[in-house]
This record gives sequence, C-alpha cells and structure tokens, in this order.
Amino acid sequence: MATMAKSPKRQLTYVTDLNKCIGCQTCTVACKSLWTTGPGQDYMYWRNVETAPGLGYPRNWQSKGGGYKNGELQKGKIPPMIDYGIPFEFDYAGRLFEGKKGRVRPSPTPRSAPNWDEDQGAGDYPNNSFFYLPRMCNHCTKPACLEACPNEAIYKREQDGLVVINQDKCKGAQACVQSCPYAKPYFNPLSNKANKCIGCFPRVEQGVAPACVAQCVGRAMHVGFIDDQNSSVYKLIKKYQVALPLHPEYGTEPNVFYIPPLLGPRMETASGELTPDPKISMTQLEQLFGKQVREVLTTLQREREKKMNGMASELMDVLIGRRSADMMISPMT
Ligand code: SF4
Ligand code: SF4
Ligand code: SF4
Ligand code: F3S
Repeated sequence: MATMAKSPKRQLTYVTDLNKCIGCQTCTVACKSLWTTGPGQDYMYWRNVETAPGLGYPRNWQSKGGGYKNGELQKGKIPPMIDYGIPFEFDYAGRLFEGKKGRVRPSPTPRSAPNWDEDQGAGDYPNNSFFYLPRMCNHCTKPACLEACPNEAIYKREQDGLVVINQDKCKGAQACVQSCPYAKPYFNPLSNKANKCIGCFPRVEQGVAPACVAQCVGRAMHVGFIDDQNSSVYKLIKKYQVALPLHPEYGTEPNVFYIPPLLGPRMETASGELTPDPKISMTQLEQLFGKQVREVLTTLQREREKKMNGMASELMDVLIGRRSADMMISPMT
C-alpha cells in the first residue's frame, strides 16, 4: 500500500516574480553554500536558475516523466549524471605554484554543465528572447517522491508542509528521483541516500526566511503561510490569483508559484521599429504555466496601467515590495 502525504496544519508557500528575477544566481549560491558542500553533493543545486526556453538542469528535465496521470503515480526516469553536468575544476595551483605553462584549463574538459545553454534562448535575431526560471523543490501537496519511496523515508511536515527526506530511513532506492517530475531529489552516490531542498526548515522554525528568499538580489521572492491573509503569498495566489505553479499538469500540486513575465521585450520589425507584441511567446508560457496564464497577464497589465496612471493598486504594491519584511514570513510565534 503506497504512502500518501498527510495534510499539514499550515503550508509554507513560495512565489517568484519572473519580471524581477535577473538571473544573478545569488539564490543558487546561497543554497549551495549553506546546504550542499558535503561529499557527493558537488553536482547538486537544490536551488537553480535556468534560462527558458532551454534545456534546464538537469538537461531535458521536462521530459523525464514522473508525477501523476489520471491520478496514477508515474515512474519516470533517473537522469544520467551527464545531464546534471560533471563538476570540473581549474588548475590554478599548477600555474601559480608548480610552474606549468599555458592557459589555465578546466579539468576534466567540460562536456556539459548546469546551465550549459545559459542566456541562449530561442528565436531569430532581432526577435530572439529568453527569461530566467528559478527552480526548487515545490513542497507539493501531492508529492510524487513521497508516494514512490518504498521505505517511507519521505514525509510532509505537519507544522509547515515542507517535504523532507528522513536520512536515517533512506536506503538509496531512488524511486523519488524517478518519480519527481521536477527532478528535484538528488542521489548522493557516496552516502547512498537522496538529498533535496529542505525548505530551510531550521531557519523557518526561527521565523527566518529561507536563504534563497532572504538573499534574492532582485527582491523577486515572497514566502509565507498560505493561510495568513496578510501575507504577500496569500494576496498573490488567492486574492489576486496572479501566481501560477510550474507545469500544473504534472499533478503534484506544487506550493511554489510564479508571476509570469509581462515585462519582456517587444518584437521588432525588420527596420528595427518596436511592435506591441511580446517576444516571449504565449505558447511557451502556456506550456509552462497552463492556459490560465493569459488571464493572469491581462490582470497584471490592467493593474500596471492603473499604477502608471497614478491610481492605487494593492497588487502592484505587493509586487513592488518596498519593505522586504512584507515579502517574507513573520516569526511563527
Ligand atoms: Fe517531491 Fe518533487 Fe514535489 Fe519536491 S517537487 S515535493 S521532490 S515531487
Ligand atoms: Fe535551498 Fe533553502 Fe531555498 Fe530550499 S528553501 S532551495 S534549501 S535555500
Ligand atoms: Fe533571480 Fe533572485 Fe535568484 Fe537572483 S537571487 S537569480 S534575482 S531569484
Ligand atoms: Fe526512498 Fe528516495 Fe531514499 S525512494 S529510500 S528517499 S533514495
């Protein structure tokens, strides 16, 4: 009998505004330096920021399978190591201290890396385009990873809904890696256990925002409990309904949401004149966020125009986020 996630008392929820993410990777580094510096974790980026459209990290994760179809858990594939990118190092010591000649070269010679196609995007100049897509575990309401684990090692925390792996119970079965359609559990070959984003629960328990949120240079991230009607996540997801999950059709009911990009560049004519049409295609946005994205962009455009014309817009004020304290959880006490 498969284990299902129990409904938590509260659900911590994340929103990233794709209009504000500048792809600086500060969130990636904040997470990496805090949680994944141990043996066997070199290749892991619990938090990563990829270019859309693009191959992503791990490469082609969107076709790995997993999640749910007609309510049934899907098995999916375990991505091969090459798709995560083989970590490489530069031989500075050889050039600086051992008298080696020539240019500093990476070793082993890179054949792929996380964000191998960073900033490449799609389309033909001058109408090529891309935007940044930060990704992390979605702390799903229906976590496929949890249901797939034969050892009941994954659980959803009652107090905040974060999905975590009990390292004592994990026996390296990798069914979680197979079944998560977002490729967010990572197998550690040295410990023979899976590791994944823990939602920064030791920080959350102290009322401190997760590292990726707290360090966000673009002030693009919001985090809070979805039952808190004063939180920015409640306003963006429930009140104004402008935040959407990534690939809702995967069926895991993510608790990480996105404000779709409205402010992207406009198409140009052959003579270089700007047209009103956006370069980022609606088809691409619908593939990522579902059909609702059209309505969301209409709402965002309407509220933006109100603000530009000097009228009040609570939605725009929430998205601007003048005080970072308003974008993050307040202490749980
Ligand atoms: Fe599990 Fe994947 Fe959902 Fe995270 S994103 S809770 S790893 S199914
Ligand atoms: Fe990493 Fe914490 Fe952000 Fe998860 S919530 S991606 S563990 S920094
Ligand atoms: Fe985007 Fe913020 Fe991450 Fe920078 S720190 S890549 S702005 S989400
Ligand atoms: Fe279970 Fe994944 Fe470990 S399936 S045993 S949590 S590797």
